[in-house]
Amino acid sequence: MLEGKKIVLCVAGGIAAYKVVEVASKLRQRGAEVHVIMTREAKEFVTELTFREITGQPVASDMFAPVAHFNVEHIALANLADAVLIAPATANVIAKAACGIADDMMTTTLLATRAPIFFAPSMNSNMLTNDVTQENIKKLTARGWHLIEPASGHLACGTSGKGRLPEPMELVETIDEFFSAEKTLVGKNVLVTAAGTREPIDPVRYIGNRSSGRMGYSIAQEAVARGANVTLVSGLSALSVPRGLSEFISVETAAEMRSAVLERFSKADIVIKAAAVADYRAKVVAENKIKKNDDEWTLTLEKNPDILKELGQKKKAGQILVGFAAETQHLLENAKTKLEKKNLDFIVANDVTKPNAGFNTETNLIKILSRDGSIEEFPLMKKRDLAAKILDRVESIMK
Ligand code: CTP
Repeated sequence: MLEGKKIVLCVAGGIAAYKVVEVASKLRQRGAEVHVIMTREAKEFVTELTFREITGQPVASDMFAPVAHFNVEHIALANLADAVLIAPATANVIAKAACGIADDMMTTTLLATRAPIFFAPSMNSNMLTNDVTQENIKKLTARGWHLIEPASGHLACGTSGKGRLPEPMELVETIDEFFSAEKTLVGKNVLVTAAGTREPIDPVRYIGNRSSGRMGYSIAQEAVARGANVTLVSGLSALSVPRGLSEFISVETAAEMRSAVLERFSKADIVIKAAAVADYRAKVVAENKIKKNDDEWTLTLEKNPDILKELGQKKKAGQILVGFAAETQHLLENAKTKLEKKNLDFIVANDVTKPNAGFNTETNLIKILSRDGSIEEFPLMKKRDLAAKILDRVESIMK
């Protein structure tokens, strides 16, 4: 998918710059035309010559130097790029970009380009977790920049923690994936719910569940990649907000999720309810922290509204409604009942007792049960790949 794509690779001054030589090489092997921009500091780590040889293109660095092969205009690379990748994205470059500073070739290009920008932060973990860096990263992702999460492990400064540049292949795959998704959902409004709800008991306690939100976030990401207008309604999650969403709504309780979803339902073409909604909430939420007194304590719960069931009742012709069924027993039987009771187009059933499946894992093991009685089974797969399968199924119904 990278064949003929023009990738501007921005190499900033971090020790991980050496790994980016391999990124440039792999991108080129996959057919991309790679143009490297280096900061002055990056050249302390890797030479211009290395990148020039690997990419077969001149390396841009000094804004005022005479340029051999490409347009001398200093924003030429900004215009030419199909995508920009910053690796390593140092705290300094991230900070400058977040503020709109354009004081060298790289930051000028970043400010001028309209191409999608991917950035892979890589630095000492204290620098990374510093509030200012975190705020800057958030500013950039809020502007639609695509964050490539740093990996954890040994760091060049002798410590270990989060802040490593991911393996070169991972960076290449991220770019490749971006170009490979066919824009099959352009113009479609997709509403996704994710993560678990929390039902308060008193000011410090709540009833919650183990959902990380990963399945729903992956579906939202895949829908964005396919060109849809995506709204994500999410319970609390430690994951970063996927880039490119039309709207992100953070909710806490099932009641909040219900109103956020109902408000947007009539405009949605496709609704995928991956959230783990608490079925019950405390009948009375204590105003003050409940003190321990007796040996036993009874908490009275009342039923939460079933959001999905309500959507199933309101569903209009042409709207596609997808639910999830997290089960620990009688998987198919229970999922089938939910499919019918909630008037869904299909249901994604997963047995959460299976290893590496269900809550808080990178992978999942699912079966898709449809209205026509068909059952599609998938092997243990990454949630992002399953998200693609789920949307493939949606698209086949749309046809
Ligand atoms: N769901 C919902 N509102 C609820 C409960 C569930 O919208 N109050 C949705 C979930 O987002 C999911 C589907 O319904 O898509 C099934 O959720 P699940 O927890 O598996 O089933 P329940 O309907 O709650 O049934 P049970 O708890 O008896 O298994």
